[in-house]
Amino acid sequence: MGGGYQLSARDSITKVPSLSEHFSATQLRMDRWSALRETTEALAREGTSGKNITRLRERAAALFEALETIERYFAFPGLSAFQNLRRLLDLNGHEELALLVRRVARALASGAYRRRAIPLVPEESEFDDLGDDTTLPSDKRSLGRPYFEVLIVDDVSDQQERYLRSALQAMRRDEDPFIYETVIVPSVEDVLVGILFNRDVQAVVIRPGLKLRSQNDVEILDHFLSRSATEALEELYPSEYGPETCRLIARVRPEIDAYLITDHSAEDIAGMDLGLCRRVFYNQEDFLELHLNILRGVNRRYRTPFFNALKEYSKQPTGVFHALPISRGKSISRSHWIQDMGAFYGPNIFMAETSATSGGLDSLLEPRGPIKEAQELAARAFGARRTYFATNGTSTCNKIVVQAIVRPGDIVLLDRDCHKSHHYGMVLAGASVVYMESYPLHEYSMYGAVPLKEIKRHLLRLKAAGQLDRVRMVLLTNCTFDGIVYDVERVMEECLAIKPDLVFLWDEAWFAFARFTPTYRRRTAMAAAETLKERLRAPEHAAAWEQQQKSLADADEETLLNTRLIAPPHARVRVYATQSTHKTLTSLRQGSMIHVHDQDFRGEVEEAFHEAYMTHTSTSPNYQIIASLDVGRRQVELEGFDFVQRQIETAMAIRRAVATHPLISKYFKVLTAGDMIPEQFRQSGVTSYYDAEQGWQDFWRSWREDEFVLDPTRITLLIGRTGWDGDTFKNKILMDRYGIQINKTSRNTVLFMTNIGTTRSSVAYLIEVLAEIARDLDTIHEEDSRMERRAWERRVQSLVHDVPPLPDFSAFHPAFRPEPNLPAGDLRSAFFLSYDETHCDYVDLGPDLLARLEEGEEMVSAAFVIPYPPGFPILVPGQIISAEIVRFMMALDVTEIHGYRPDLGLRIFTPDVLADKQ
Ligand SMILES: Cc1ncc(COP(=O)(O)O)c(C=O)c1O
Repeated sequence: MGGGYQLSARDSITKVPSLSEHFSATQLRMDRWSALRETTEALAREGTSGKNITRLRERAAALFEALETIERYFAFPGLSAFQNLRRLLDLNGHEELALLVRRVARALASGAYRRRAIPLVPEESEFDDLGDDTTLPSDKRSLGRPYFEVLIVDDVSDQQERYLRSALQAMRRDEDPFIYETVIVPSVEDVLVGILFNRDVQAVVIRPGLKLRSQNDVEILDHFLSRSATEALEELYPSEYGPETCRLIARVRPEIDAYLITDHSAEDIAGMDLGLCRRVFYNQEDFLELHLNILRGVNRRYRTPFFNALKEYSKQPTGVFHALPISRGKSISRSHWIQDMGAFYGPNIFMAETSATSGGLDSLLEPRGPIKEAQELAARAFGARRTYFATNGTSTCNKIVVQAIVRPGDIVLLDRDCHKSHHYGMVLAGASVVYMESYPLHEYSMYGAVPLKEIKRHLLRLKAAGQLDRVRMVLLTNCTFDGIVYDVERVMEECLAIKPDLVFLWDEAWFAFARFTPTYRRRTAMAAAETLKERLRAPEHAAAWEQQQKSLADADEETLLNTRLIAPPHARVRVYATQSTHKTLTSLRQGSMIHVHDQDFRGEVEEAFHEAYMTHTSTSPNYQIIASLDVGRRQVELEGFDFVQRQIETAMAIRRAVATHPLISKYFKVLTAGDMIPEQFRQSGVTSYYDAEQGWQDFWRSWREDEFVLDPTRITLLIGRTGWDGDTFKNKILMDRYGIQINKTSRNTVLFMTNIGTTRSSVAYLIEVLAEIARDLDTIHEEDSRMERRAWERRVQSLVHDVPPLPDFSAFHPAFRPEPNLPAGDLRSAFFLSYDETHCDYVDLGPDLLARLEEGEEMVSAAFVIPYPPGFPILVPGQIISAEIVRFMMALDVTEIHGYRPDLGLRIFTPDVLADKQ
């Protein structure tokens, strides 16, 4: 494999890396350090009289200047060590400078500074010159204790700064479970930049001397948050900056502990709103108390009650006199034939296999101990009022929520291309189903998401038909498989404006990670529920609602559809989210969670929820899965922000590489927001997050404003120009030739999903593979005969342009529509009617069938028919089979169609049974 295309094409030696070319500040920092390393090494090589000295010194000085604005937010190397390095440049100490800069750059890249002190004074250079810690003597830090940084905000002199730092350092004790270093910044704005830049920050200490504005360049603030976040503070007294800073921190990184130190008297403080700080201290100098609280705060997140209980349990000597012979590996260690299983998994997994619910463990079905506690911690981490663990995936979570909420005959509005678990959930619950259409992307054979107008139109029509009180739930997938993300808060508010007690189920199977970065968080169900609840309570909201009510008194449907509706203050916030933790965060397969923010849960749902949970949950849940959910929660509370940021960066690196690589871009294109979201849903006008000419576009603005946005971590690659269809490309090229695994394709696209485990090297490998494929294609086409060339062009034409249009949901047959004037269908009775063979018949899929349908013959599906891809039912039981659907099925070149047997044909209801049913 040749080429070795670099992910971020290095800038010329004279250019200082700037933010506009970098998606993230961390990458920018790393790039600036490696540029400084290259420059100082070149300087060292030049000696004292080389001809490039002046140019290199100028570049080094520019890099120092650029880095200084960033380095003030990090404890390592720390601003004073950094300034010492700068001084070495002034003093012409080029060799020492090169040595130390290399040490810093390597320690930053390897993370060695977290594990031990890195010597940065020239005299100590007897230490190895590498930042790698494998060969170095350990110091106090390397006792295996996790490391973090604490941001202290106070406008203090250098001397006071040294005092503060050393006072906290003096509090360190050998028994401390963690170790931290401090970073001191002067202002509210610096705190915000600090917690965005520095992902090691786990706590912020806000002292009374803080200022509002930063002296520093805070361009990054405009990227992540609106500057107006701090503009509002201008109205405040400086004494109010502290509590306000706590609130801002909670908005950006809610997992961080904020400590407020005040010089107000306890009496004064009693009446003040102190924001969301963890603790208030009155005495600025009580460093031991502060130190212990900081450690305790981090420990709150570090605790994993169920994982610990399981570890403890596995150490206890117990006689096993219940089921589960695998427990403690007993059935394996005594075996002659399955020893390899024991060798492969190692002993611990079997030591932790048990069916016990006592002895320090707990029962998932009736949790009272460590599982209950682990669920409570998960609720905190994911911003829910309560959280339930599930050990058999979101497929089960979805059925639990639907059964708990929906009663037979209740109307549920759901997106037709939702996961099959919802359709089965509707059958089990006996819901009256109204399918809503997502906007289609015909040219890529995929669906987008359901436009808000479509949802409102359904609700308004049901209202006009006098059926609104039967509407129980709106169910949507966020984000969709392909990465389309709703404006969750807006959808809920406008729906509540029409029906104030509506329940929402957001299928966030793919979106558990979204909570851990501020841009995405706004568009998660739990965050939106919280903001909406707060907003509905505000007096100005009530006034706005009353005003709108007057102006809309006689409004017609069109006006209501075109107006941004305001929910009444008495609306109830009733929101559920189901997440496949295992899909996007650390958890064993099948580990999922249900998050609840339902104001009426206790009064109305709790019992039913319990029953539903009992219905679907195994009495032998897998403890390893539960423990992994507990540990996965610890991880996101301590490093979710870091991991998700890195994931976004890697995805952006792929987007940029494909867009700018001359060879790759000849055959492949990464679909952009502009390709996957029609213009009317992109109010910001942003079409692409990366533009080869303009660099990074306003990703953050589109996430604030647009009806739909694209999750950039899911990368849809258009491959039609290669002449292969998605399925062939996935199996024959990516998998068989290069061992690259993906799981979704459409006719002319493949989907690459990045996750928090995706590494820069796997991305580099992918890019190399794409370049090699493109190169091979070039070579093949150079040698093509005229006929071969024509055949290839025809294939491309067919894949790129002749794509069969996606069919709309036709309708439920009147036999399954209890109210003929409503679109709602009784999926359940259609589903069970087909159990009797005599009610069904089969028809061959082909031109004959098409002709019969076009002549007006009526046929009704007796089964779910689910082609993979696209992976959602194009027919459900009771649905009228349209010519459009048959045409689509005939054009599909996939081999896997669930519910369709090529030897028999499509399963339909007989005309007699339909007539009887009507
Ligand atoms: C949107 C959606 N919901 C639910 C599920 C089911 O999740 P699980 O595999 O955790 O059962 C999937 C699986 O792919 C999905 O895509």
